[in-house]
Order: sequence, then C-alpha cells, then structure tokens
Amino acid sequence: MNLSRRALLSASALLLARPRTVAAQVSPAAPDIAIVPATDARPEPLILCWNENPYGPSPAARAVLSATAPLACRYPQSEIGLLLEALSKKEGVSVDHLALGAGSGEILSCLGALVARKGGSLIAAEPTFMELPEYARRAGVTISWVPVNAQKRHDLKAMRAAVGPTTRAVYVCNPNNPTGTAEPRAILREFILSLPPDVTCIVDEAYLDFADDPAVGSVADLVGNSRRLVVLRTFSKLHGMAGVRCGYAITRPDIVNDIAGVRMSTPNIFAMRAARASLGDLEFLADTRRRILASRRRICGELDALGLAYAKSQGNFVFFDTHMPIVEFEQIMLARNIRVGRPFPPFDTWCRITVGRESEVDAFLAALRAVHAPALRKAV
Ligand SMILES: Cc1ncc(COP(=O)(O)O)c(C=O)c1O
Repeated sequence: MNLSRRALLSASALLLARPRTVAAQVSPAAPDIAIVPATDARPEPLILCWNENPYGPSPAARAVLSATAPLACRYPQSEIGLLLEALSKKEGVSVDHLALGAGSGEILSCLGALVARKGGSLIAAEPTFMELPEYARRAGVTISWVPVNAQKRHDLKAMRAAVGPTTRAVYVCNPNNPTGTAEPRAILREFILSLPPDVTCIVDEAYLDFADDPAVGSVADLVGNSRRLVVLRTFSKLHGMAGVRCGYAITRPDIVNDIAGVRMSTPNIFAMRAARASLGDLEFLADTRRRILASRRRICGELDALGLAYAKSQGNFVFFDTHMPIVEFEQIMLARNIRVGRPFPPFDTWCRITVGRESEVDAFLAALRAVHAPALRKAV
C-alpha cells in the first residue's frame, strides 16, 4: 500500500539530506543515463513529484503574504469570518456549511478520526490519495479497497456494491490522485444519491479546477439536500499555495460542527489573508490554468509519440506507463536531476509526473525521450 504523505515527506527529507551521488544535468543532449558523482555546484533537482503548482502564489496573494508579516503577532480570529464570507459568496452556500482547515489534508484527517469514532469501514479506490485512508486505518478503521477499472477510473459500481452494514464512509477523489481520471458529474451524482443516508460520501475536489472535460464538475450543490456529503477544496493546487496551508469543506452544518470538534487548528493569518486575495486574482487563476492545461496536453502528445500508455488526466499531473520498474525510472530521472512520482501499487511501472513550469516540462520530456527513444529505435 502507498505510504502516507507524512512518511514520504520524512523519507524525502532523508533523501535530500543524503550526500548527493548523482549529477547528470537535465539536458536534451544527455547521451546516457549513467549516475555520476555530484559536484557542489549541482543545482537543486526539479520537483515534479508533489503535484504542486509552481506558478503560485498569485501576485495578489504574494503582496498580502508580505504585508501580513507585521500582523503575525495577532491571533487570526477575525480572519476566519472574512474568509468564510468570501467562500460563502464563491460557493453559494451559507457560512455554516463551510469548515476551514490548515490544508484540506487536515480536514481529511478529521474525517478519518470521525469515521473511526463510529467504528466500521471506509471504502476507497486503489490507488487513491492516501491521507484519509491512511489516517483512518491508523485510527482503527477497516479499509475496503476497490481497484480502479481498466481506464484507471473509480469503479463506482463496484464501490457501491461494496457498501454494507459496517460501511461508514466512501472516499471519491475526483479527479483521482494518482491516476488523474475523473468521473462525470452525472454519474457521481447518481452514485452519491444511491448511498444509504447514514453513509458519508467524501468527494475530494482538490484538482477539479484543472478538469477540461465538460462532463466533469463539482457535486457541491448536492450538499444542500441533507445527504451526508462532504466536498473538499484546497488552495494548494490551482492557487499555488501548498506551503501556506489552507483548505475547506462544504458540507452540512452538523458535519461542520463534528469536524470542528476534532480539528487541531485553523489556518494561520497568512493563509487566510492570502487565500482571500487569491480568490480575487482571477487573471492569475485563468492564466495558470491555461498554462498547466497546455503543458498537460504537450506531455500527453509526447507520450503518444513515444507509444507510452497514460490515464486520461484531469489534474495537474499525468500517470503513465514507463515500461520499467518505477523505482528504476525514479533513479534514472534523479540522475538527470528530476524528481518524479513514487510507486503507486499495484501500478509498479507507472509514474505520476507533475505538470511543472514550461521549462521544467521541456527538461522532463527531453529526459524521457533520452530514455525511451533509443529503446523505440531498437524496436523498429
Ligand atoms: C487529492 C488530494 N486531496 C487533498 C490534498 C491535500 O491538499 P492540502 O492539504 O495541501 O490542501 C492533496 C495533496 O496533494 C491531494 O492530492
């Protein structure tokens, strides 16, 4: 099973702390994939493994982050209401339908704790984003894994069939991390409405802003119909504020209260002020989305040219088949100074590559061509 992000962060901190043993620079002309000793002048690796958005934060959010430093001595209480008001306008729900978290990951953990409190099981796709299943598992919840289907999409029929008397919650990450696939809104809506009323459906829309399939959309409007539905959003992806930590849930007021009861903290004053500013920076948001979608298309075009299979991505990352053990591919890319996604069992030859800046995508594609094009030439 996948490692939790926390475990991975510590593992990657260890990796970063290790003396560097590789130094091949990212270069379209790199002749081979040999690992050579590092020099002190070696630049930091390109980080294409965490699904971050390197264009952020928006100019408006950056200005607010800098201007907020003198206010860091203040508790952020008044900011909570202001951000809730702004989100209430954006989402068209009253503020009592909104719960804030220090990242949506914190809310996922809260939901894991709440599921554990009731006992029973959680249904999740395999593979999916691990924060909720991993937290819930550690808190004593049984996880029922339902493999993704042939298109690497949630198998909603099988997930529905897995619902039983002990099921407390179902997690649907839409678009899914790491596969990038997304369920059409109409199908997901039908699935949610088919669930028993005491089963909580947690729909994680962290990447929804990057969807360009018109059939894919939010199910947040279903929150009003008294279902136990929790829709999660984050400022870490399109808004490019992963390091600042701000996310929120749209759900029923009683579930908002339950979340508040197990939450550790609120977002800090920087996060809440920057989030409000970012919501208003429409030019940045549109431009970022356009650039990421263009680069995603470019990556998929190159994968097509190289004959490498990939899942249809609606996120800021692409999941593709490297045709070699992923741990080997990771090392080959690291030798070219690029960090790519880790293993996501059971797809042990598949890599999740984050759509970085245009120049980072250039570097990754050059490295990918260097690895795969010779193999293709040999095959001809
Ligand atoms: C699907 C999904 N949901 C939630 C998160 C957590 O986001 P954050 O805690 O940064 O808001 C991530 C982070 O990568 C994610 O991939």
